[in-house]
Amino acid sequence: MSTTATFPALTALGHAVDTDPAAFGELRTSDDIAHDVAALHARMAEDGYLFIRNLLPRDLVLEARRSLLERLAAAGGLHPDHPLMDGIAHPEKKIAFMPALANPNAEIERVIYGPELMGFYERFLGGAVRHFDYTWVRSVGLGHGSTPHCDMVYMGRGTHRLFTCWVPYGEIPLDESPLVILENSHRQSERLKAYLASDVDTYCENRPHEVKKVRDEGGWLHNGSLSNNPVSLREKLGGRWLTAQFRPGDFLTFPMNTVHASLDNATDRIRLSTDSRYQLASEPADERWVGANPPLHGPRAKRGFVC
Ligand SMILES: [Fe+2]
Repeated sequence: MSTTATFPALTALGHAVDTDPAAFGELRTSDDIAHDVAALHARMAEDGYLFIRNLLPRDLVLEARRSLLERLAAAGGLHPDHPLMDGIAHPEKKIAFMPALANPNAEIERVIYGPELMGFYERFLGGAVRHFDYTWVRSVGLGHGSTPHCDMVYMGRGTHRLFTCWVPYGEIPLDESPLVILENSHRQSERLKAYLASDVDTYCENRPHEVKKVRDEGGWLHNGSLSNNPVSLREKLGGRWLTAQFRPGDFLTFPMNTVHASLDNATDRIRLSTDSRYQLASEPADERWVGANPPLHGPRAKRGFVC
């Protein structure tokens, strides 16, 4: 991929993505500085993300891919006429978000909580590291990607020195729902202050409709999205949407205030990825995501305030 490349017709939440070089580009790789902690900190401060290829052993990532596809096949989500590892979606049966693809999954845990990534975060954060006990697994078939958001609104109750790690399990071309990062969005925190201060699991105790919707029905007042239109959001905030043709072994990490989303999947292949989170063990962790039976966004996570 380069600025002179021609791209397939890409969409994000159904909107045509502007692939002009002024609006769309490639994530910068940090492979060359992967073992230089000071340089990684400078790069993270400058870019709002780190993208490192081949940090993870490819064979372990592909074993984890197999484990995900075996579970999807068992649930009837794969096309029976194609090889398992091709990950071709069943033409009629669409699998919804399926947390049981991980939680637990030994092959996935070996990749994201093994010595390569834990060692990376220990060096990067300068101390003993813990990861969240909950792992987000995405299996995205034909259709829309995810809405633009910052992770803060879902996991901001502990330390804000918390990093998301996104790992692809297979080749992910541009039309198969790759993750995209909005360039320089980590510098927009003042503008996004009210959004970043929000928490999807809170409600006002003195507003009966909020009490009903959040506490009693377990819902959200808002789903944490910044926008339903990644194209107009980019026009408003500036920067380019940045992505890559991801490969097994790659990983991408970014802090809680970097705006990201994923493009739509225009193919019959299932895009497989995980999101996992890392922080210093000595700092407080968001209680929704740790422990043997984490609350997640369920009833135990809801918090009321007098507004
Ligand atoms: Fe996210």
